[in-house]
This record gives sequence, structure tokens and C-alpha cells, in this order.
Amino acid sequence: MPETNDWWRTAVIYQVYPRSFADSTGDGVGDLDGITARLDAIASLGADAVWLSPFYVSPQHDAGYDVADYTDVDPLFGDLASFDRLLARAHELGLRVIVDLVPNHSSSEHPWFRAALAAAPGSPERARYLFRDGRGLVDANGTGDVPPNDWQSVFGGPAWTRVVEADGRPGQWYLHLFDTSQPDFDWSNGEVQAFFLDVLRFWLDRGVDGFRIDVAHGLVKAPGLPDYTPPAGGSMGGDAASAPMWAQPGVHEIYREWRRLVDGYQPPRALVGEAWVQPLSKLANWVRPDELHQTFNFEYLETPWDAAALRAVVDGSLAAFGGVGAPATWVLSNHDVIRHPTRFALVPPPPQGEGLGPRSPHHPDEVVGLRRARAATLFMLALPGSAYLFQGEELGLPEVIDIPDAARQDPTFARTGGASYGRDGARVPIPWTADAPAQGFGPPGAAATGASWLPQPTTWASYARDGQAGVPGSTLELYRAALAARRAHGLGAGALAWLPGDDPHVLAFRSGDVTVVANVGARPVPLPAGEVLVASGPLGEGVIPGDTTVWLLRVE
Ligand code: NOJ
Repeated sequence: MPETNDWWRTAVIYQVYPRSFADSTGDGVGDLDGITARLDAIASLGADAVWLSPFYVSPQHDAGYDVADYTDVDPLFGDLASFDRLLARAHELGLRVIVDLVPNHSSSEHPWFRAALAAAPGSPERARYLFRDGRGLVDANGTGDVPPNDWQSVFGGPAWTRVVEADGRPGQWYLHLFDTSQPDFDWSNGEVQAFFLDVLRFWLDRGVDGFRIDVAHGLVKAPGLPDYTPPAGGSMGGDAASAPMWAQPGVHEIYREWRRLVDGYQPPRALVGEAWVQPLSKLANWVRPDELHQTFNFEYLETPWDAAALRAVVDGSLAAFGGVGAPATWVLSNHDVIRHPTRFALVPPPPQGEGLGPRSPHHPDEVVGLRRARAATLFMLALPGSAYLFQGEELGLPEVIDIPDAARQDPTFARTGGASYGRDGARVPIPWTADAPAQGFGPPGAAATGASWLPQPTTWASYARDGQAGVPGSTLELYRAALAARRAHGLGAGALAWLPGDDPHVLAFRSGDVTVVANVGARPVPLPAGEVLVASGPLGEGVIPGDTTVWLLRVE
């Protein structure tokens, strides 16, 4: 592993969604030993680090983003010894490991929340969460039967649930910006602050290289919890400047303290925030020199396949992040959004969180989507800064649309009464071997059961890794070639200089000795003279076909 304090500035970080990566036991849910056995696939892809979505003790009401014990592994995924094995193997392969931290809320099964339910209103136990009296008709308990404010859960429905007090009568309400099983902490409480510093220390002392911070824009709420009507279409929040539950100024002091803590470790570890904050100039406040190291660039993720829009978001990102000395980051897919080969075939795509399903009015063209996705990825991997990949995108996997209602697990689906399909379509276990039970997601040989927690489409066999490895032109080989060339030519640390041109559908820039040309339009454009390093699809005679990106060396 290269010994540099600044590895995160240029790193390509591969997101592993543990329940869907590799299952070593055959129970249909991926696990840590499964990941360890397959880490070489990530190393040979050319990634620098792995980000693991949550594997902590959890009732799994939101796929592990509802944590009941922050310092232990859920038996579904293994135990602390299996985590240590994973970490050791990753380091042996030169991969750093970032773990997910979920500080906005715990599970309702966390001992602190159980204690809060058992305790009385006004008690120190309740003060760790956001319990409030209701409005409306005040009953014998002195609390109203209407939620304390009008906030809605990100997953649909009210953001407040009323509890039953110890005497059996309806009582106070608690805030949950997500599912009812995910009560929000009160971050003004010093006990909560101290608790999370200990959680950070626990994993840092175990050797992790950093943290991905869930809902990093949500921890602090506006005083008085005022009513708020969000703009239509917003989901994970942050889109509106005035939202009282997102992007409150007080959150920055928390990250300053965390930064001081991680900077005390050698080499320093990295903090990356999941902050759905717009515009980029505001998001940059999360990555000032004494705060987080990086934050995801969701504005980039949400940019359509359009040359002018892409150029604007690249310029805006470089300016905003560069303005505070932070690296820009780039991402096209993760476990919360429609996989980008499908998204780029939808104009416009549904809002984040709505997802796709059999009754959606959309019919994405898989061929067009994959061509655009490959071109978009090759464009992204040439940009200076750090890039995030989501497991399976290196196979070109599309979103799974035809998941039966009964098999859907995302709380969004149930909480919206099926109006939003949610995020299951991005989370289906990935195919390793075309001709194997569960497409090789499960254990090999006699232990294979074919089980998979979400149904895998049979069509995914054609995307399986074994059918792509070593096959020129496959999406897997495209990713490998791109990551190798990115490293060899130092593109992550490069400086982008746009090249002039008069085709509005073409984006061209130089970074170091590499020239990148993306034809975002449908019609072929001239291919500049030079040595082709990587192309996202077949090139014509002297032309770059539509929806194709190419990297060239020595362009005159
Ligand atoms: C963001 C995570 O990425 C998502 O999967 C989760 O549901 C919410 N935060 C709540 O923790």
C-alpha cells in the first residue's frame, strides 16, 4: 500500500454492499468472509480502496442503516474476527478500507432507544433522541395527538411516531427522518457526541482507513424544529436552502472534532460525507481544511448525459472543492440510486428514491443505456480527484425493474404504499459466474444453495464476471484498462484543461499527456490523430461514434 497521507485525494473507491457482494454460507445474504474471498477481484480491477456499507448488529429494517450495536458485527455478516480477516486481506492486497458510520439515527432496538422508551418524558434517557410532546388535543398524559411538526420521513409518511408510555397510554412522539425503526439522535447532547467519538476510536484502533458518514448533512436540526414543506421531488434532503433538518450550521463543529481525532492517527485516516447539499458552493463547507476530507458529489451523479450540463458541473465542482483545498469527487452509482446504465436511458429519470418497477411508465433501452454508461464512466475516470464505483457497475449491470412486490425490502416501498418502488433494483446480488446457482453469488460446490435475498434476473447471466474476464471490449475489461491508464498517467492528480471545439455535443480536455474526447451526442465526430489508450466502445474509421468516450496519447 503506498504510504502517503493524501491517498484519498486521488483514490478510486469501490463500494461493497455486503449483503449483495458474495455469500460464503449459502443463506442468500452476502457476508464478510464472502467479501474477503473475493477481494482480489477488486484489487485486480485497479481500485485503491473499498467502502463497506454497514455490517453492524442491526434488525435490518433499512438494510443495516439501522444500527443496534455500533461496535459489533451482525451475525448475518460474520463477527469481529471475520472483519479483522477482511481488513488484513485488503491491506495485504494494497486496498484501504473505509467503513460506514451511521450517526444521525440508531435502530429502535439500540439499548439507548429501548431505555428511552422505558424512561419517562424529560428523562436523560429520552434526551439522547428527539422526543417531543404532540400538538393537537392534549390528553391525560399532557401531550397532543398530532405530531410536533409537519416533517415528512424521507421514506414517506410522517417523520414522527407516537410512543406508548410505561403506563400503557399514548404519550410523546419521537423524530425519525427515515423509517420508524430509525430514531434520530439529539446531537446537542454531549453524551451522544462522546459516544460517537468512542465508536470512531473503536474502528480506528482496529485499523480502518476511514469512514463514510451517513446523512452527514442531517445530524443537527434547527432550534425549535419549525414546520417545513419541502419542494417537490427532493428526497435525501438538502435541496432547499431553508430546510430545518438538513445542512444546519452546527453540524460543522462535529466534523471539526472528528477531524482532530482522525488526524491524531498515523497515517491520517479519511472522512467522507454523504451530504445531499446543493449548491456545490455550500457543499464545499463540509470539506474545508479542518472538516471532512471528501464529500460525495451528488450534483455530478444527478447530471444528465448532456455535454453542456456535464461541463458546467465539472467546472462547478473543481471550483467549489478546489476553492477550499479539497479534491473533487465523482460518482455515478450507489445503493440508493438507479444504476447509471439504466438512468442514462431514461429522460428524465424518476427522482431519487422513487426507483423503477413493473408498473413504472419507463422502458429504458438497455443497449443505449450501457453505451452511455460506459462513455460516462470513462469520462468520469479521467477527471482529477477521487472517484467512487458501486459494485457491479464494472459489469455494466442495469437496474433490476421486475422485482415482484412481495420480494421488495426497501422500507420506501411499504411506507409509500407502493407509490415509490425504492432502491431494491440497485441492490440485487451481483453475478460472478453465469452457469452457477445464484449466478455464483453464493458459495461454490456442494455448499451452493442458489439462495439470494433479492431475486436475480436470469438475464444477468450474460453480465456475469466470468463471461467478461479477459474478453476484449467487455465492460469489465474497459474498467480495468481505464483504471490502469488512470494510474499510469496520473489522471487523478491531473489538471483539467478544456480544449476548444465547436460541436456542442463534444467535451474535450487535456490532463497531463492524455486527451479525453467524449461524444455525448448521437452522431459520429472526427477522431483526433493520436494513440488510442482506451475507448468506451468500438471506434469507426477516423470517427468517434455517438455516446462514446476515448482517451488518446500524443494528440497534435
Ligand atoms: C443514506 C444511506 O445511503 C441509505 O441507504 C439509508 O437508507 C439512509 N441514509 C438512512 O440511513
